[in-house]
Amino acid sequence: MSYYKINNLEQYFKHYNKSIREPRKFWGKIAEENFVWYQAWDKVVDFNMGEADVKWFVNAKVNITKNCIDRHLAKRGEKTAIIFEPNDPNEETLHISYNDLYSRVAKMANVLREQGIKKGDRVCIYLPMIPELAVAILACARIGAIHSVIFAGFSASAVTSRINDCECKMVITSDGGFRGNKTVDLKGIIDEALEKCPTVEKVLVVKRTHTAVSMKEGRDYWLQPLLYDAIPNNVAEIMDAEDPLFILYTSGSTGKPKGMLHTTAGYMVQTAYTFKNIFNHEDNDVFWCTADIGWITGHSYILYGPLLNGATTVLFEGIPSYPDFGRFWEVIDKHQVTQFYTAPTAIRSLAKESDEWVDKYDLTSLKVIGSVGEPINEEAWHWYNDHVGKKKCPIVDTWWQTETGSIMISPVPFVTPTKPTYATLPLPGIQPVLMDELRNEIEGNQVVGSLCIKFPWPSMARTIWGDHQRYKDTYFSAFPGKYFTGDGALRDEVGYYRITGRVDDVVIVSGHNLGTAPIEDAINEHPAVAESAIVGFPHDIKGNALYGFIILKEIGEYRDRDNLTKEINEHVSSHIGPIAKLDKIQFVSGLPKTRSGKIMRRILRKIAEGDFSNFGDTSTLLNPEIVDEIKDNKI
Ligand code: PRX
Repeated sequence: MSYYKINNLEQYFKHYNKSIREPRKFWGKIAEENFVWYQAWDKVVDFNMGEADVKWFVNAKVNITKNCIDRHLAKRGEKTAIIFEPNDPNEETLHISYNDLYSRVAKMANVLREQGIKKGDRVCIYLPMIPELAVAILACARIGAIHSVIFAGFSASAVTSRINDCECKMVITSDGGFRGNKTVDLKGIIDEALEKCPTVEKVLVVKRTHTAVSMKEGRDYWLQPLLYDAIPNNVAEIMDAEDPLFILYTSGSTGKPKGMLHTTAGYMVQTAYTFKNIFNHEDNDVFWCTADIGWITGHSYILYGPLLNGATTVLFEGIPSYPDFGRFWEVIDKHQVTQFYTAPTAIRSLAKESDEWVDKYDLTSLKVIGSVGEPINEEAWHWYNDHVGKKKCPIVDTWWQTETGSIMISPVPFVTPTKPTYATLPLPGIQPVLMDELRNEIEGNQVVGSLCIKFPWPSMARTIWGDHQRYKDTYFSAFPGKYFTGDGALRDEVGYYRITGRVDDVVIVSGHNLGTAPIEDAINEHPAVAESAIVGFPHDIKGNALYGFIILKEIGEYRDRDNLTKEINEHVSSHIGPIAKLDKIQFVSGLPKTRSGKIMRRILRKIAEGDFSNFGDTSTLLNPEIVDEIKDNKI
């Protein structure tokens, strides 16, 4: 019996039970039957959750690109691996076959080696959604370099801190990127970022927008001529199962972003397995995930998951509103997309436009539609179901995180009955538990608690780059022996999970995971600001938006508040990126603080939400009178 594919509900429970009773046999069999290895493992898993120490497929040898590309060539060499759909619908679509992908990756891998990159070196990739992004990532994996992709919407200082944190030796970027009717100056941002990055020796630059850029002698090289001269064959590096594959930064509750480190074999096995099941992948499908590769969703479900299954995956450079609000639906129609995977924010923003945009395209090719990144509200779920899925496509509401590497809780389409706003059941191998405030596991159904996972899974992050203690403290100390997700969840009467949102200082804005601490740090650097506190509040389109409570240094000096609000937001934009801008800024004379000096965010959250009903116990506040002042002046 194979465990790779779940075909019906009975089988789901069978596989699930097996995966809990005998996780080693379960994952071992999947790993053995569905991948090519240079050498098998001695042990399927070795772990100590208390120490946040986890290893999968111990001592196995593998290269993920052999599994993503080489092994498909004999049977599927001419099959399209990647469909590149450019920002401008009038620019030609590119179909990259598996054969073509092989030679592109081989050439890029050879260029990286020639430019001095070796196994274990960190390479920062700061590119728009163009084929070179996929190729650069795979080329790193090919030679064992660790890719650190930075979303091309991050500002120079955010790029600097990420490059310095993992000491990248090289940056791969482009002259610019297209985004709707705008051009983004990526090379300019890299130039600024690199002023403070001593470890970067070389910058390879892809020509995309043909914008004039400055090229630093001895550091910057155009990539295309190097590729032109490169050999289209490459012998893959033999990697240990636990050798690092990539670092991807995510926000944390302190100012410093966390470089989540993912390793090779476990990540490979679980992204492939989840892709196959959650999207019910079959050979002639065309899969489209609209995320940016700069986020984990793009890593796992634009690139690795699909390619590991020999699928055809769409790489879309543009945005949902360009040239008009029909773009997503036009692309589905044009490429006969069978699985479509997007975020609630995108769904909500398109649902508010006329239904004609979606109704005028032929979406009958769709089989499964998915949602990820934030809770999907009931209204958006129904609009998605009615207008996009035409009530025929199961919606897979997939819950997971940068840290988990791949999907953890989700319906399996055509297997698990869906329920609006519920991520439903854990995948085989995943053991979620809900915990109460006393750190006890909550048994039974119809309960609410903090979502933890009590047994390791193959694609979990192994550490935070350079700071294992922080990894342990952040994820394994709140509930000893368990991984704490930072999310709250409820479990309904049949055991379905619904994610209710973050229970820490992370706010999900338009599907982007934003730590409030780094935003506060950026705001506090503004010369007019003495102190600030940021909280999230519900927003119709973005899910959550940011509300800032700000204390100014010299109140009299800054009479023009509108201007100051603008300035502060520009400051946030340049320090972190436009995604972190605040929707509301309220200037206050103080912040509610406990006697130990901690800001009571719970109260600020309630005020920002406009819920003045019950602030809970304020007796421990140092300055209870401030609450009324803030409340009375709420924006
Ligand atoms: O709060 C949860 C929310 O997104 C967080 C993870 O964010 P990130 O690491 O950026 O990864 C996003 C893409 C996997 C989670 O802790 N989240 C993710 N998926 C869902 C979700 N919240 C509710 N429902 C989901 N399906």
